[in-house]
Amino acid sequence: MPLLELSNICRTYKNGQIHIEALKDINLSIEEGDFISIMGPSGSGKSTLLNIIGCLDRPTSGTYTIAGNRVEKMSDNRLADIRNQLIGFVFQSFHLLPDLDARANVELPLIYRGMGGRERSRRAIQALESVGLGERVHHLPSQLSGGEQQRVAIARAIAGEPRVLLADEPTGALDSKTGENIMAIFEKLNREMGITIVQVTHEENIARYGHRIFRLKDGKIDRIEEVRNDKTMK
Ligand SMILES: Nc1ncnc2c1ncn2[C@@H]1O[C@H](COP(=O)(O)OP(=O)(O)O)[C@@H](O)[C@H]1O
Ligand SMILES: [Mg+2]
Repeated sequence: MPLLELSNICRTYKNGQIHIEALKDINLSIEEGDFISIMGPSGSGKSTLLNIIGCLDRPTSGTYTIAGNRVEKMSDNRLADIRNQLIGFVFQSFHLLPDLDARANVELPLIYRGMGGRERSRRAIQALESVGLGERVHHLPSQLSGGEQQRVAIARAIAGEPRVLLADEPTGALDSKTGENIMAIFEKLNREMGITIVQVTHEENIARYGHRIFRLKDGKIDRIEEVRNDKTMK
């Protein structure tokens, strides 16, 4: 069974008389260990699709199954539990709390899980080490570069050991070299820890770190492209 399976997913936004069909009949299967890039023009439904995959939003119709759980049958509380247990999020603009140092930012989601202080601290430091920030645990976000802040955000996303990492334009606020460094971390998390990754990007070279590229157009899957990964040959 695929880890994530979307069948006939539609999402319509209703504002008064106006209905916007952001997603139209999406069918997708994503296996555990996959690395997916979602591309498409602005307004094509990329963020809407990522939010549904991440259980931040529910489809208007269709069925979505995550790790064997049918999303449309779940209560909001159960959905929040699934999200907390299975999914880590990374955003374009990092979303770090400015008054907390790197370690405290990474610990935050673990506090919400009710984890004790020692275990939290251990996990946070381990996550920061795994993104190469073992020497920066007591830095505030303002004392870190953009790339380092995004690495803290990645550490925060993986500290809870999610099975899926979702990223909406994770390199969108970074220069191209720093963006490549972020992709090197994603590759490592995918390959060494087996984390399934789904990222939205508008940069072709960033998309090609994925194993497959889903190309959206007008709320539909226009094309699915397999990426021939020749990076390891270089
Ligand atoms: N909360 C919302 N209310 C109404 N329309 C929305 C909302 N969010 C997105 N949309 C519309 O849905 C479509 C897809 O949006 P989105 O998923 O954000 O696209 P993308 O991320 O590819 O730019 C767009 O037409 C957008 O205007
Ligand atoms: Mg978007």
